[in-house]
This record gives sequence, C-alpha cells and structure tokens, in this order.
Amino acid sequence: MFRAQAPGVVEILDSEMEPIAPASRPCPVRLSALLLGIVAAFVPLLAAASQPAPAALSVSIVHTFGTTPIRAEDVSCRTAAGNTVSISRLTYFLSHFALLTADGARVEFPQTLGLINALTGAVSIDLPPVAPGPYSVLEFDIGLPEALNHADPASFGPTHPLNPTVNNLHWSWQGGYVFLAIEGRWVQPDDALGGYSYHIATEAHRTRVRLQAPFNITGDTTLRLKFDAARLFSSVHTVAITSDAATHSTHSGKDDPLAGHLAANAAAAFSFVSAARTPPASAQRPHRAAPPPPLGTTPFPLALPKHFPQPMLPLDNPLTVQGVRLGQRLFYEQRLSAGDAQSCASCHQPDAAFADAGKALSIGVSGVSGSRNAMPLFNLAWSADSGFTWDGRRARLRDQALAPISDPREMHLPLDTAVARLSADATYPDQFAAAFGSPGITADRVGLAIEQFLLTLISADSKFDRVLANTEQFTPQEKRGQFLFVTEFDPARGQLGADCFHCHGGNLFTDHQFRSSGLDVDSADPGREGVTDRPTDRGRFKTPSLRNIERTAPYMHDGRFATLEAVLEHYSEHIQPAKTLDPNLAKHIVTAPADKRRAGVKLSPDDRAALIAFLKTLTDDSFLQRPGPAAPSPQPPTGTSTPQTR
Ligand code: HEC
Ligand code: HEC
Repeated sequence: MFRAQAPGVVEILDSEMEPIAPASRPCPVRLSALLLGIVAAFVPLLAAASQPAPAALSVSIVHTFGTTPIRAEDVSCRTAAGNTVSISRLTYFLSHFALLTADGARVEFPQTLGLINALTGAVSIDLPPVAPGPYSVLEFDIGLPEALNHADPASFGPTHPLNPTVNNLHWSWQGGYVFLAIEGRWVQPDDALGGYSYHIATEAHRTRVRLQAPFNITGDTTLRLKFDAARLFSSVHTVAITSDAATHSTHSGKDDPLAGHLAANAAAAFSFVSAARTPPASAQRPHRAAPPPPLGTTPFPLALPKHFPQPMLPLDNPLTVQGVRLGQRLFYEQRLSAGDAQSCASCHQPDAAFADAGKALSIGVSGVSGSRNAMPLFNLAWSADSGFTWDGRRARLRDQALAPISDPREMHLPLDTAVARLSADATYPDQFAAAFGSPGITADRVGLAIEQFLLTLISADSKFDRVLANTEQFTPQEKRGQFLFVTEFDPARGQLGADCFHCHGGNLFTDHQFRSSGLDVDSADPGREGVTDRPTDRGRFKTPSLRNIERTAPYMHDGRFATLEAVLEHYSEHIQPAKTLDPNLAKHIVTAPADKRRAGVKLSPDDRAALIAFLKTLTDDSFLQRPGPAAPSPQPPTGTSTPQTR
C-alpha cells in the first residue's frame, strides 16, 4: 500500500523539474538553489511514503475499583463477596507484549518489561516503535520471563524496574520476584480493621492477558487500558476474606489455590479502553546531563558491594577524594555549633554505626532534647528515593546534612556564622577550593561536601555478608533465626516464621518505605503525616535497616525500647490496632474466635533467642572501627572497602 504511493511522488517531482530547468537557463545559480529547495521539500515526503515511519507506542493504565478511581487507603471498597476493603499497595510487572495486526500477523516484543504502581502514578510502559496500520489484539504477561525472574538482582542499573530498590518486590531468599502485590485492610465481622496481603510469584502463576483491541496507528500512540481491582476479588473466581487466616494472605505456595485464583482474576481485571495520539514530545522534560567533576579533583573510588542493588548516586555531586575528605572533616567539626560544643559526631558516633549510643532522644548544644532517636548513618546512597529522617521530610542528603547545624535543638548555629567561621580558618579555604575547583565557602558547599562523605559510609561486611559469600557459616541457632526472619507467620498454613522480611527484606534489611509497625493505637508523633498531611500516613516511619542493630540501641523513632528483647516482645505480643497499621502486621492481629486471640507473631523464648542471634550477625566490625575525624591531611578517607566489590 505504501509502495504504491511512492512512484506517484517521484513522478510529481520529475514533472516539476522539467519545466523549471529550461526556463532558468539564464540564471544557473538561482536554478540550483530552486532545485535544491524542491528536492529538500520532497525528500522527507518520499522517505516517509516509501517506508512509513514507525510510531512510538506506549501503554497507560487507569486503576479503578468498580467505577471509581482507586484511592489509596480508602476503606470503602465493597467486594462481590461482601468484604469492605482498602488498597494500600497495588504493584505488578507486565512483560512480553505482543500485537496482532488486523490481518492476523503477530508483532512480538519479547524484551518488553514494565513495573506498574497503581498508587504512585507509575502507570505507563513504553513499547518499541511499530509500523502504522490497523491492529486487532494486544497481549502481555502479568509476571516475568524465567530468565529475568532469576537474574542477579544486583545486575540491574539504579533506575531499572528490576532493581530491588526500585520495585520492592524482590524475594531474595526464594529466588525470583513477587510479580503482583496487593495489600490493604478489611473490616472484620467485629468491625475491627484486619489486614490482607496477597503476593503472587513464580512462573507457574505467570498469566497471559489477551485483549481485543481494535485500533489504528497513524502516529505516536498511547493505548489506554483499565485495571479494575474489584475484578481481582471476583471475576473468574470469588475471593472472600473471612475469619479463616488462610484468606488473609498468600505467598504463592505450590498448594495454595488462592494465588492461582488471584492470578486468573488479575488477567480478567484488564480491559482495553482506547487508543489515542500521544501528545507531542515537547511536553517531555529535557534530559539534563551531569556536570563534570570540578577541575583538579580526583574521582573517589567508591566500592559498591556486589550483593547490593545498584544505588542512584546524585549526578550533580560526583564523589571526589577532595570532596569526601572535606566532608569527613566537617562531620567532626565542633565549630559548626554554638559554643563549639557539638559536631555531627556528637549524636552520630562511629562505633555506634553513627547512631547516638544509649540515648533515646539526643540532646542538642542548648540542652534541649529533640523528639526523635538519632538514626544510624550508613548505606544512605540507597535511601535517595524515600528521602531522609524518620519521616522522609528531606528529599536530598545534602539538605539533611545542613539542617542540624542551624536547628535550635541540635547544633544551633546560624549558617552564615558557620560559613564565616570556616572562611576565617587557616586551612578550610584551600580545602574548599581543592574540592570544588574554585575558591569560596558557602553553606551549599558545606552541604555538598558532607553529602559526599555520608555517601561513602557503606556497611556490607558483617558475618551475614560473609556467609552469603560462602566464607563463613552460621551457627545452628543463627540459621534458625534467619529462617524465622524470612518466613511468613501463617498458622493457617502451618508456617510459624516471624515475618520480618516483608519490611526489613533484601540485603539492605529495609524496604525504604514508610510503615506503621503498630507501636501505638494513635501515634503521638505524626510521622509521615507531618510531611504529606494525609491522615492515612499517621504514625508511619521509614523502615530502618537492621544492619548493626546490635550497636544502635535504644530502638524505634522515639527510642522507646532499650533492648532487642523488648523489640521482639512488641512484634510477638503487642502490635497495636492503629488505623494506619501496615497490612503485613495487621494480619497478625486476631480478635475472634476467642481461642485464637493474638496481637503478634507469637515467638517462643527459643525463637526470640534465635532471631536475636541472627540479628547480631548483621554487626559489621570493620565499619564500626572506622577511624574518626580526618585531619586536613592528604590521606584519603578509609572504611569504604568491602570484601566483595563490583
Ligand atoms: C543533637 C543530635 C544530632 C546532631 C548534632 C546531628 N544529628 Fe543527625 N540526626 C539526629 C536525629 C534525632 C535524627 C532523626 C531526625 C528525624 O527523624 O527527625 C537525625 C537524622 C540524620 C540523618 C537522616 C538519616 C536517614 O537515614 O534518613 C542524617 C543524614 C543526619 N542526621 C546527618 C547529620 C549530620 C551531617 C549532622 C551534622 C551536620 C548531624 N546529623 C547532626 C540527631 C542529630
Ligand atoms: C510492616 C513492616 C514491618 C515488619 C513486618 C517488621 N518491622 Fe521492624 N520496623 C518497621 C518500622 C516501620 C520500624 C520503625 C518504627 C518506628 O520507629 O516507629 C521498625 C523498627 C524495627 C527495629 C528498631 C530499629 C531501630 O533502628 O530503631 C527493629 C530491631 C525491628 N524493627 C526488628 C524487626 C523484626 C525482628 C521483625 C520481625 C519479627 C520486624 N521488625 C518486622 C517495620 C516492620
């Protein structure tokens, strides 16, 4: 069809050239200009007509519950089985897209893969360009191809959908990914709020979706689909949540029909809505290239652990030996505080993994205590997405590196005074010039230098890491503890684990999400709500990493628990029915029938001891023994090396 048009265009070009050439003989210069103009005008047309330009194709998904758009945490969705539920998480992988043309030819995209997060608005996937023309069917898998499902999760770049920090769906202990996660709360028969948590995984549950999708591609096109979460609870199968705990969760075990039912329902939850022309690319953000490192600096050899996901380092603050060294010196600089009384290290001590050893709440230079427990500082490069502090209110590490200096409850020194003090020093001006390639001390530069130093604090050399690398062995008790840590508590299916990994999973031992762990029915500290203003975020705090946990007591955002035993007593017996309690813990609160009452994962004394033994294998002695302040000496900072590096 397109070839048929091509000769016609060539003919027009020829016939126009003929009359022009003789008439313009007296003026050859203008003739050639005119000819060039004509050719220039027609060549693109010619090319387009003979080989139709492929059109960019993307798929965009609207998520609803029945006829209303999904609203996170809204406990008002009625399922067909009569349950009232909310949805606090709905994420899934789609892969292996294919199209059928109107005359039945298959166009396959086996490499396509996308991560959809219905509640954060990451709801579209770009497909490779396709030839214009009429199409009839769109196909894709819910799930992952086997090779990708079992690939090394550390092999994916910092923004790749399969990077565990990006998707939070990696099941490191089982191999493979959870490819569909839906979680939320449900109203129990006694009106209390329970939790449900469905995790679909394994190749056996991967499901092909085939949608009748009649559309015609004439240019860049967006295919709009709908995912109706109500159909996840009832389409092929009806899913009812009852007092039977087996209906509160699934982990995709071989003999668990619930996982298969949900996978089939998920496929039936999709429908084709429309194909629309994609708005012109001008609406897209221009790509910004990272500036080069400052002149005269040496790149800092950051050793990233091989068994960690790849982090997203700030492109506009490349680590340099000079910058890191300056940041390290500033971290220990008492002149950054009123009365020269405190440095960052006063509340973040190296031998406590940079937490404030033994203090529930830290005390600032003015003798005033803050309202939160000082956080340990390591593996911060992996927190870029969640933001910093317990509630994530600081988007960038450099902001959190600067904030304590002027905070009246911390170092209490105006930033311009801090800058003036450093500028009057004998050695700082040269050190700043060396780190930033030009003279000048500013508060921004103080933040950038400390950010560089903090990014080098990597803890990845604990016994746990050495066991992973096969150079050491767990004791039987530690092994038992690890088993409990990564195993669900699901008495209905005979699994009596401690269910810690849902939030403290992966080799970083945190999912970097904001969760309520049920410390109080109504949290005195608003937590994440203070940042987002959403009541559904009340009492949610960033899941802390459990690395070096042996050394960072006391625990929790307010330091309420002095020991790990006290922490386990909480998870075992006292999870509080907070409105915002995470579904992964809410499912452990059982109020009826009376003989099944519990509010936790019911750990025996032996199991608690085993869990603590396992947690102690996360202590990284080489990290804890880092040297302290860096003098303005030329030695590069240490402590960034790990035995297994990329
Ligand atoms: C008076 C004690 C105190 C001092 C001094 C102090 N901090 Fe903190 N730091 C804290 C507390 C408390 C938190 C938790 C804050 C919150 O959640 O609101 C924290 C949190 C942080 C975090 C967030 C970590 C994460 O995982 O999100 C970083 C980074 C940090 N501090 C760096 C610094 C730096 C750099 C300095 C010096 C410029 C400093 N702190 C000085 C007490 C202190
Ligand atoms: C639903 C997610 C979730 C689950 C499941 C979970 N935790 Fe936590 N954990 C958190 C959050 C969030 C915090 C911080 C809470 C706060 O400070 O308010 C936390 C805090 C902790 C702390 C204190 C860390 C510190 O630096 O203060 C320890 C220790 C801990 N959890 C261990 C465990 C163990 C062991 C298990 C399994 C029995 C477990 N957690 C299960 C989310 C979870």
